Amino acid sequence: MTALPTRVDPAGPEYAEHRAAMIAKLAALDGEHAKALAGGGPKYVERHRRRGKLLARERIELLVDEDSPFLELSPLAAWGSDYPVGAALVTGIGVIEGVECVITANDPTVRGGASNPWTLRKALRANEIALTNRLPLVNLVESGGADLPSQKEIFIPGGALFRDLTRLSAAGIPTVAVVFGNSTAGGAYVPGMSDHTVLVKERAKVFLGGPPLVRMATGEEADDESLGGAEMHARTSGLADHFAVDERDALRIARRIVARLDHRKPGPDPDRFAEPPKYDEEELLGIVPGDLKVPFDPREVIARIVDGSDFDEFKPLYGTSLATGWARLHGYPVGILANAQGVLFSAESQKAAQFIQLANQRSTPLLFLHNTTGYMVGRDYEQGGIIKHGATMINAVANSKVPHLSVLMGASYGAGHYGMCGRAYEPRFLFSWPSAKSAVMGPQQLAGVLSIVARQSAAAKGQPYDEDADAAIRAMVEQQIEAESLPVFLSGRLYDDGVIDPRDTRTVLGLCLSAIHNAPVEGARGYGVFRM
Ligand code: COA
Repeated sequence: MTALPTRVDPAGPEYAEHRAAMIAKLAALDGEHAKALAGGGPKYVERHRRRGKLLARERIELLVDEDSPFLELSPLAAWGSDYPVGAALVTGIGVIEGVECVITANDPTVRGGASNPWTLRKALRANEIALTNRLPLVNLVESGGADLPSQKEIFIPGGALFRDLTRLSAAGIPTVAVVFGNSTAGGAYVPGMSDHTVLVKERAKVFLGGPPLVRMATGEEADDESLGGAEMHARTSGLADHFAVDERDALRIARRIVARLDHRKPGPDPDRFAEPPKYDEEELLGIVPGDLKVPFDPREVIARIVDGSDFDEFKPLYGTSLATGWARLHGYPVGILANAQGVLFSAESQKAAQFIQLANQRSTPLLFLHNTTGYMVGRDYEQGGIIKHGATMINAVANSKVPHLSVLMGASYGAGHYGMCGRAYEPRFLFSWPSAKSAVMGPQQLAGVLSIVARQSAAAKGQPYDEDADAAIRAMVEQQIEAESLPVFLSGRLYDDGVIDPRDTRTVLGLCLSAIHNAPVEGARGYGVFRM
């Protein structure tokens, strides 16, 4: 065996310092997650309960197998926007009757569960996860439809929601809609386009136009039930496949529907006998320094997330600023690329490209552990071909067909974010630690570059340069970029699938790897032209 050694000293001052910084960030993160859990706040939650209804997360809890985990995704969606944290929608992966499914649930306590621009992005991301990983999709519906004041942001792109439902079906991926309340106008197409529908008695309202609209349009007098009640749709229109007497009955029926899908997972389940890491996952709190300028060894992280801490390193003596190697995680084979010293040089880029090709040849998923300030700049490096070599790595990542997972542990700056499979390179899942930071470059560097450009511009015009104003602008820009680089901000914009506690990394990655194996895992057989 090739178990990794450790140098982490949990009794030492460095560890205590790193741990304290991480604990403070986790406490702040908890506060933000609590906002998502609170939904529309006590007033709307109590009103919802008084109506005898279950909350979105309670519906999910009753839907999934008892004591099984639910991997919630993007709980911080809409953070930093004008809309409530969580975006009035809960999404994630849960197990129903032994089948891993993507589950979404509108939160009707937040503005009637209406969809704002962030709700839409979150829902589309859930659809994408269902499609790429071939996971059945179960939508728990109760929504006021489009958030009317922001309709201009959602009406036109929002059509993709219904498009996705039928494309999933065409791809052989089952879709289920369980309607607990309002699902009207465009929302009526959620059950309308789903393979299986369940409507709750006297609660579901599924119509293109409600009573006021019908009166306006045709003068006809009609009530909610006759236009779109569960009984009418079950007996008369045929839109409802199943008539549920109450919410719990609807969730029971949804579980039976999934049980009868006879879903066959092509890949293996997690290995329940997989050896845990040799070192305590708790120690993941003490590895990343509060100041990201101080390097840390990612092998200390790998040693705490892979089976038996066993890691076969590839080319350990070459391109040493990037660690690459093979391991298993909950029994699944993975190739790991982890930044060791921050900067990516030519050798690291070429090593990464070779390693990614090897993973594709053996159809092994890849895990990218980010802590990079980007590709090296400077005369020697430009002359040494850093653009060509960075392009080689980016080519390999972009055309690789094995599933990718990315975890932002620390810095993820510049094109280094791309080469390490950032969001635009479509990793199947991407999570951040509270210690992560991502932007085009570091805040100080960015403010400094802006200042140099402004100084040159003033000189070219023959104007004097205001040094006091420059210092003030630099400080302001630094502060702005710092705030925009933080994981809660990026998570709010759906640039990751969630900010996780480092101690949960192995569990989260294990759940993702299991979900990924619902689709065939096959490497690429061709690449773009490599510029050598
Ligand atoms: N856009 C923006 N805000 C909405 C909304 C929507 N589509 N639907 C509801 N809201 C807001 C309400 O204005 C209300 O805000 P307030 O509490 O600050 O006054 C809050 O959400 C709760 O709505 P309320 O009507 O009290 O909740 P309810 O549970 O009794 O009813 C609905 C929920 C969805 C049935 C009802 O609000 C409704 O019919 N909304 C409009 C539906 C619609 O026509 N949508 C357009 C479809 S494309």
